[in-house]
Amino acid sequence: MALAIMCSGGDAPGMNAAVKKFVDYAFDKKETPYLIYDGLEGLIDGKIKKADYKDVAGILHRGGSVIRSSRSKRFYEYDYRKQAYENLKKFNIDGLVVLGGDGSFRAMDRFSEDFPVNFVGIPTTIDNDIYGTEYCLGVDTALNTIRDALDKIYDTASTFNRAFVVEVMGRDCGYLAAISAISSGAEICIIPEVDFYLPTIENKLVREVENGRRYVLAIVAEGTKMTAKVAEWLEKKLGMDTRVTILGHIQRGGVPTTFDRMMGFEFAVHAVEHLCRTKESNKVVVWNKGEFGLIDIDTVVNNKNQVNPHHLAMLNVLD
Ligand code: F6P
Repeated sequence: MALAIMCSGGDAPGMNAAVKKFVDYAFDKKETPYLIYDGLEGLIDGKIKKADYKDVAGILHRGGSVIRSSRSKRFYEYDYRKQAYENLKKFNIDGLVVLGGDGSFRAMDRFSEDFPVNFVGIPTTIDNDIYGTEYCLGVDTALNTIRDALDKIYDTASTFNRAFVVEVMGRDCGYLAAISAISSGAEICIIPEVDFYLPTIENKLVREVENGRRYVLAIVAEGTKMTAKVAEWLEKKLGMDTRVTILGHIQRGGVPTTFDRMMGFEFAVHAVEHLCRTKESNKVVVWNKGEFGLIDIDTVVNNKNQVNPHHLAMLNVLD
């Protein structure tokens, strides 16, 4: 079989591990692996290359993706999707592995409604916001990047008697913020999924400051758009010198953790296995309770991911 892989949407650490395993595993199975460069944009433009071992040598430890990625506006148009399909046909590609997030899976769902494409998705986004899987590739590395930044911010906050508001990514999902707040012991965590009530937080913090608290760490999910407001509020209500740090795109980069490399391998193996086993197409590899499985793309794109109630319960900083 001719099998191709591409990365789509926001990059995430571990993509290279998945791409490498895809190529190596396809060779082991005597299939022919192809690489699609520049995501959906590259698929439209026919940037497709038969893979060689050399293409994926020495890439495991690198963040980002050596086959690069893109968000494609053109792919919303039928004529470009047709062009993309014709490129797949030109190389006789029987199966396509797509590393991407929600938006990419929606695009693939649409693509598969128009044309008989056979694809398997690997949930890949630091946001961890894809329905049906507890884990998306890249999340562990992003959480560790955030933890590292927060540990450093604690150093300066506690030395300088300051409040810090740290904005983390996640689009509309509060997962990164919630887990980071729990694991870093932040005093405040503001996420889109929970209605927060500043006066309640204020009562608690004012009491703590009276009892000797000298610094405050607030984690704010970007999706709330509350970063500036929380900083202003902290300064006003607690009278603490307050600084804002927006972590931004550093959360997307960096050397993938061991966990993300292993997950990249496993996701890729399951994707290739599925494509080789059956023509039953358009699935997403998911990971739940320590086991891999596959679910229909329709189920993934037509349902909304929810934050785990167990994690919300651990966010006692919201009490
Ligand atoms: O989906 C990954 C992500 O990093 C989000 O957390 C963030 O909101 C978005 O992508 C940023 O997108 P861009 O790189 O296009 O600015």
